[in-house]
Amino acid sequence: MNVSTAVFAGSSTRVTGKPQRNLPEFAFIGRSNVGKSSLINMLCRNSTLAKTSSTPGKTKLVNHFLINDSWYLVDLPGYGYAKADRKGREEIAEVIRDYITGSPDLQLLFVLVDSRHVIGRIDLDFIAELGEHGIPFAIIFTKCDKQGPNVFARTLEEDKALLLQQWESLPDMFLSSSEKGTGRAEILGYVEKILNNI
Ligand code: GTP
Ligand code: MG
Repeated sequence: MNVSTAVFAGSSTRVTGKPQRNLPEFAFIGRSNVGKSSLINMLCRNSTLAKTSSTPGKTKLVNHFLINDSWYLVDLPGYGYAKADRKGREEIAEVIRDYITGSPDLQLLFVLVDSRHVIGRIDLDFIAELGEHGIPFAIIFTKCDKQGPNVFARTLEEDKALLLQQWESLPDMFLSSSEKGTGRAEILGYVEKILNNI
């Protein structure tokens, strides 16, 4: 799929405040600093669209980006930011929960996991919650430029084993690098397939 236009369409903390056009939404979630905003920029080939930072906890709002005037990419805050105070963490958790359980336009949530580390308990618990709410998701392993394929292959085997303790079958999975553009065609093609089936 071609991304011809990508335009910031608004920020919200509750789903009642999101853009009013009921267009299909694809959202990105994962631990703080895993690379959500960078991935959105890579998919849109626009390095300044979503704000990125080497300091975790950058994205605090739900940010909608209108793609090709027909669907939204949604950048969510990260979960599990250890340095935030308890109140800050609870508020972020509420922003995330409100959006993912309250947006009827959400088609699929991409759960991002750092490809250098085995999937964490916090990710597995989050994914379990998605299952309870019946929210469709796929996993994207990020930052694959940071290590060789053999190292990732071993981590992936561990990830699969952990996921299969919780799920009968594995979700769809992608490997990405926002630095190198890895995974762009696959992820956009996946979105396109879902859009064509709505
Ligand atoms: P929060 O908004 O804080 O939750 O973070 P985020 O998940 O949006 O992460 P962000 O995109 O801001 O990226 C965090 C850091 O990781 C930045 O310094 C990025 O440059 C870096 N980064 C993100 N993706 C990649 C990647 O694919 N490769 C490399 N080498 N670095 C990346
Ligand atoms: Mg971000």
